[in-house]
Amino acid sequence: MPPIRTILAIGIGSGDPEQVTVQAVRALNRADVFFELEKRAGPEDLVALRRAICERYIEDPSYRVVSVPDPPRDLSGSSYGADVAAWHEARVALYESLLLDSLADGEVGAFLVWGDPALYDSTLRILDQVAARGTVDLSVEVIPGISSIQALAAAHRIALHGVGRPVHVTTGRRLATDGWPPGVDDLVVMLDRDCTFTRIDPDGVTIYWGAYLGTPDEILMSGPLADVAAGIEAVRAEARARKGWMFDTYLLRRGE
Ligand SMILES: C[S@@+](CC[C@H](N)C(=O)[O-])C[C@H]1O[C@@H](n2cnc3c(N)ncnc32)[C@H](O)[C@@H]1O
Repeated sequence: MPPIRTILAIGIGSGDPEQVTVQAVRALNRADVFFELEKRAGPEDLVALRRAICERYIEDPSYRVVSVPDPPRDLSGSSYGADVAAWHEARVALYESLLLDSLADGEVGAFLVWGDPALYDSTLRILDQVAARGTVDLSVEVIPGISSIQALAAAHRIALHGVGRPVHVTTGRRLATDGWPPGVDDLVVMLDRDCTFTRIDPDGVTIYWGAYLGTPDEILMSGPLADVAAGIEAVRAEARARKGWMFDTYLLRRGE
């Protein structure tokens, strides 16, 4: 029989330690080991915030932190899908060895997931793939978190869609390749390194943009896209250069 491991994927919110839910605090206090993937050029602030959350909410400080370098991600090949798959495969092998080597039988391991684990995060998919290898029997529990989308809407004090209307969530890359999806007036865009909002037809579109949401460096800008796109692009570039990293999310709304 393969060894059994209990793993918690804990959503920790998108930047404000006060977004950590009561359910997450309980989960944090069950974990014996926290696994941490170090990004090579990753934002120190995010690592610091994860540690601050542990220090603030965990009552018994005898937990262990196991840090390993995140496998390098090379997305420069001809196939984005194949590149991502290769990177995921490397992560699956890494997670498998972490769970087998750094966690004893009966112990509980945890991954702190930025925002909500269900949204543009690979933790759950990777854990599924580890389980599929059959070398370890996983019991995974997911604790939802406040996503950056919720933080964006709250910061701008808006609902994400019109009454009874859909809202579409996508990435900058998909918006650039696929364009504005049909039948949708409200479009949330994440993971956009290229300010794709500057390349769509701004006619009748309003943007609600937020960077570093929930953190002391939060920046909010909004208005008719035609009027504010260039300003957002400039503010974003300045902030990114100053801090060395950028997290931003925005809502594009047609026909307001
Ligand atoms: C890998 S995804 C993780 C999303 C996360 N699971 C969530 O629920 O928000 C990273 C992207 O989320 C968005 N994001 C995460 N935290 C953010 C924040 N504090 N402010 C603005 N955008 C954020 C950005 O679009 C960033 O590129």
